[in-house]
Amino acid sequence: MKEVAQEEQVFPPPEEFKRKAWVTDESVYDEAEDYQSFWEKRAEELVDWYQKWDQVLEKDPPYYKWFINGKLNISYNCLDRWIERGQGDKIAYLWEGEEGEAEEYTYRDLYREVNRFANVLKDRGVKKGDVVAIYLPMVPELPIAMLACARIGAPHTVVFAGFSAGSLRDRVIDAGAKHVITCDGYTRRGKMLDHKSKSDEAVDGLDVQCIVVKRGNNQVNMQEGRDFWWHELMEEAEEECEPQVMDAEDLLFLMYTSGTTGKPKGVMHTTGGYLVGVATTMKWVFDVKDDDVYWCTADIGWITGHSYIVYGPLALGVTSVMFEGTPDYPQPDRWWEIVEKYGVTILYTAPTAIRMCMKLGEQWVDKRDVSSLRLLGSVGEPINPEAWLWYHRVVGKGKCPIVDTWWMTETGMHIITPLPGITNLKPGSATRPFPGLKGEIRDAKGVVPQGQKGDLVISRPWPSMLRGLYNAHDKYVEEYWSKYGPERYFTGDGAIQDEDGYFWLLGRVGDVLNVAGHRLGTAEVESALVEHPAVAESAVVGIPHELKGQVPFAYVVLRKGYQGSDDLKKELIKHVSKVIGPTARPDDVLFVEDLPKTRSGKIMRRILKNIASGEQEIGDITTLKNPEIVDDIARKLRP
Ligand code: PRX
Repeated sequence: MKEVAQEEQVFPPPEEFKRKAWVTDESVYDEAEDYQSFWEKRAEELVDWYQKWDQVLEKDPPYYKWFINGKLNISYNCLDRWIERGQGDKIAYLWEGEEGEAEEYTYRDLYREVNRFANVLKDRGVKKGDVVAIYLPMVPELPIAMLACARIGAPHTVVFAGFSAGSLRDRVIDAGAKHVITCDGYTRRGKMLDHKSKSDEAVDGLDVQCIVVKRGNNQVNMQEGRDFWWHELMEEAEEECEPQVMDAEDLLFLMYTSGTTGKPKGVMHTTGGYLVGVATTMKWVFDVKDDDVYWCTADIGWITGHSYIVYGPLALGVTSVMFEGTPDYPQPDRWWEIVEKYGVTILYTAPTAIRMCMKLGEQWVDKRDVSSLRLLGSVGEPINPEAWLWYHRVVGKGKCPIVDTWWMTETGMHIITPLPGITNLKPGSATRPFPGLKGEIRDAKGVVPQGQKGDLVISRPWPSMLRGLYNAHDKYVEEYWSKYGPERYFTGDGAIQDEDGYFWLLGRVGDVLNVAGHRLGTAEVESALVEHPAVAESAVVGIPHELKGQVPFAYVVLRKGYQGSDDLKKELIKHVSKVIGPTARPDDVLFVEDLPKTRSGKIMRRILKNIASGEQEIGDITTLKNPEIVDDIARKLRP
């Protein structure tokens, strides 16, 4: 049985790329074996400190602290220092709204707005240590509010704008936030969304004040004494606000993420280590240079946006595109139009988006001039080799390396990733741990032999690691530091290491099935399915089976021009059996129009699993971008 559907092809870095890359020598891995001194050098090189640390790392497993007694301010590192170095007129953000509105923010513009908003927060009584909740779509006020919080030492918790009122409420209560920054409304695919009503519902009865950004110009109810317009508060605000001197270990933000139990947990990130980790990976993995135009398509409401739209790019003085809309509105060439318009050189996106673009057809990419691109990135889920090859050929025109970056909310920064100037890429593999990091594949017996599946464990601390779960010590220990002890971080992902030491991610361990005693990653079956020419996208879940314990059940979205039929179903089942082995044969295949996804594009397999298993309770669908699909699928399965 073939363990993983692997492509044999290897893609070395193009000569031209290699010549100019920041990292050009394998020796970085050896040098970083002394990981404390490696990170110390990066901290000296990439971050400005008010006071140097006394000690690089303090271990009290499972708690780790970095840059003890180091003092800094992140907004100073992201803004002031670029102005002091004569880069005030450089563009920080090229912002584009859904309807094509465009705004440019130089580092000086951003500095001014951040300082003014920091003063607004102070005037409203926000002090160092007070958590501020931010509930905004992809408007410039979102990074401005985050940086203003960082400037005065108020940790932020950004709640993705697509989340429901209930999700916002839970987070505001858990974080103890007394201030919520929200907006009136905004459009999604041309349709106005009444955002303010959602936040009103969320804060109803809570002791909270709201600052409201005017974005949609829709009619809203402003409650006297509770709601204040952003632009009115800003009118009066002073343009200078002294940055608060922060300890390296002061809380920078909370980011809520769902764990095994489904109740969101507040992942804690602190100031010094987070910035060092994010700035280092931003520089080495994206290989950013002064003249790059970098675009990460994620939403700032997720960790990807925090680390690689806000803090990483600004800490390196980079020019970024920030886009409010979706890839296919008003036309399926919207993304490629943006690449052409701004001359984007580095594009960082998710496999699900790549597969969607594949489904729409390559003519939409070909319509535009995307020749400015020099590096592509992927994040969020394992990228199937077929999508990788399409991204490489159609978007990258065969000349752009692809950095498939594996990491998670808890890690803060890339953990397993290529370094584009030196790594020979294998489509579908995130390759190797970043210098200074150590990844292992383990099971209860210890490190598993190469080529075998196990749990991905990180067995060395890194500066941007989570510092805990907000008010949830036991959960922190249980989720990450119990299975393999307090010195080995359990990621919750399954993986295989191949003979070259490359890591192949297999999805969350929770999605691993046990079919008649055989372990099987749902991601593997999906990857096999999408290799078939008829399949655009698929999601595989485990359903209970009388004899085998569990069997895979496949949901399949067909490419344009294909029709679902019994014959095609049989063909797909045979295909999976051929690619992986008979145990991986889906018990059934259901052809569907679309898959339930979160706004960030993650397929909600839990919901699909419940539908396929015939559960009464389908689960929470409020965070879906397309909740209507759930009923369609359920009716298809049980008419
Ligand atoms: O399963 C892994 C998957 O996304 C999970 C983390 O999700 P989240 O905290 O929402 O952060 C997403 C953005 C960093 C991981 O446990 N994942 C992320 N990147 C990859 C990935 N799986 C495979 N390959 C990746 N490049």
